[in-house]
Amino acid sequence: MQNPVLTAVAWPYANGPRHIGHVSGFGVPSDVFSRYMRMAGHPVLMVSGTDEHGTPMQVQAEAEGLSPRETADKYAWKIHEDLRGLGLSYDLFTRTTTGNHYKVTQDIFLALYRNGYIVPKTTTGAVSPSTGRTLPDRYIEGTCPICGYDGARGDQCDNCGNQLDPTDLINPRSRVNGEKPEFVETEHLFLDLTAFTETLGKWLAGKTEWRPNVLKFVRNLVDDMRPRAMTRDLDWGVPIPLDGWRDQPMKRLYVWFDAVIGYFSASVEWARRNGDPDAWQRFWLNEDARGYYFMGKDNITFHAQIWPALLLGHNGEGDRGGVTGPYGKLRLPDEIVSSEFLTMSGSKFSTSRGTVIYVNDFLREFGPDLLRYYIAVAGPENQDADFTWDEFVRRSNFELANEWGNLVNRAVSLSYKNVGSVPAARAPQQADEELKSLSRAAFDTVGEHLRHSRFRAASTEAMRVVTACNRYISDMEPWKLGDDPDRRDTVLNTALHVVSDANTMLTPFLPHAAQKVHELLGGTGTWAAQPQLSEVEDLDVAGQINPILHGDYGSEKAHWASSPPEPGTPLSKPKPLFPKLDPKLGETGPDFAPIPG
Ligand code: MF3
Ligand code: ZN
Repeated sequence: MQNPVLTAVAWPYANGPRHIGHVSGFGVPSDVFSRYMRMAGHPVLMVSGTDEHGTPMQVQAEAEGLSPRETADKYAWKIHEDLRGLGLSYDLFTRTTTGNHYKVTQDIFLALYRNGYIVPKTTTGAVSPSTGRTLPDRYIEGTCPICGYDGARGDQCDNCGNQLDPTDLINPRSRVNGEKPEFVETEHLFLDLTAFTETLGKWLAGKTEWRPNVLKFVRNLVDDMRPRAMTRDLDWGVPIPLDGWRDQPMKRLYVWFDAVIGYFSASVEWARRNGDPDAWQRFWLNEDARGYYFMGKDNITFHAQIWPALLLGHNGEGDRGGVTGPYGKLRLPDEIVSSEFLTMSGSKFSTSRGTVIYVNDFLREFGPDLLRYYIAVAGPENQDADFTWDEFVRRSNFELANEWGNLVNRAVSLSYKNVGSVPAARAPQQADEELKSLSRAAFDTVGEHLRHSRFRAASTEAMRVVTACNRYISDMEPWKLGDDPDRRDTVLNTALHVVSDANTMLTPFLPHAAQKVHELLGGTGTWAAQPQLSEVEDLDVAGQINPILHGDYGSEKAHWASSPPEPGTPLSKPKPLFPKLDPKLGETGPDFAPIPG
């Protein structure tokens, strides 16, 4: 039995539809990985959901004149639809406003509190003098006391990267209306990170294989273990389950506290929904389970520091020990796979400046696989990457339509025209065997890359098989072998064999196209399963209706091994696999995102 794999995917804020920058960070990479792991025989649990609390939601709600809950409802559905359309194979994509999530979050909070890792502290909070409302840290701006940068925010300085408190800022001002905030005393509950210096430090020290961008970030983390507030002066969030706190209308748990717990609560919800409430244990308590976390780089600290600390504290395994929490000794992350940022024609995606490409527009025009492919081969895997329409057209036309689409088309239509079914290999020659063994070897190479989230390398290696097979057909010229049907059939059989192999290896990247190729090769049934969007009643709150993504991935036929089509399988006339995009698109962009100028 292969190790159970938890794929934990960062939770997008339900504060707007998703753009392609978002899904290049957490979305497509986690799905390519999970699809591969399932094909390689691992039990996989891929979970996430919409992140619906905190300041980001409140700000959007205010902008639209809605309540935070109305805003969450509005965008939760849109985001579920965006991710379904991309074919992201979540076992459960839920939301943070479920009764289950509230309960699990509070359970974990109480376990941490009992073990002494949550401590009250009086701090100064910023208030807007004109409205009397609390100003969240990141809505305060001023001069950085460390580097002197003038645009530093109350939570951190983007210039020198240091974490700050609003009271550290020189000349603080509100980013909402420019006024000078007033600082008042307020009590909060802090996660005492100083009590994890040793245990977390030791854990991090063992993580030498993580991507360089993550390692660079965690290197200095333990030197700066300060208590961090896990509550906020807000009325929107998970209530604090302690006497004296529970009933305070303006105190809630910090959005990041509840969001990271979502990985676990969603696993519990998945198990409950499947009628086996303990099924999550296989992915969280088993010795051989492995947890892989996918996110954009702005999320690293919460996954490499806060989340492991919460888990250690719950488990009673921080520097102060303690009793094991109600869920047992939960497993800490094994891999933190962080992407860098995707920019668009050189600038940051920005909803306000209109430099944005929404997923739903993209899908309507081009379907999911072209975008999935672009992100995998040219996305921000190890460094920031730029999306340009020109590059998109080039990759889609040359690599997908010409190289891959054409190969499928040539191999299937030649076989269909000459034989009508998958031809038999009668007398294989050395060239045939060489091509097949090149393709056989690629399963290991590509698989090894995918296992380590090296998507660019994996797709390049898979495409090498495609190129080799195209060259083989051109060299063998089966259309000239009319007088030698045995040789012709052997060549076509070899080509179809390798097309089938390449299709298997490209399935994690191009699951929709892979289903079509499976059918073009005479296959039936579900090759690559797709997520479903359902409307379900909350498990704990009567009358609350939630969207969920889920799917029956266990039934799919795709496995990480060669499964060449049987000779004699009937074939039909193929239709093109990918559209040929108008090169003008590269200069003008599509109507929904025209290139300025
Ligand atoms: N909502 C956050 C963001 O978009 C990510 C939350 S990830 C989780 O940046 F760990 F909290 F789930
Ligand atoms: Zn600074």
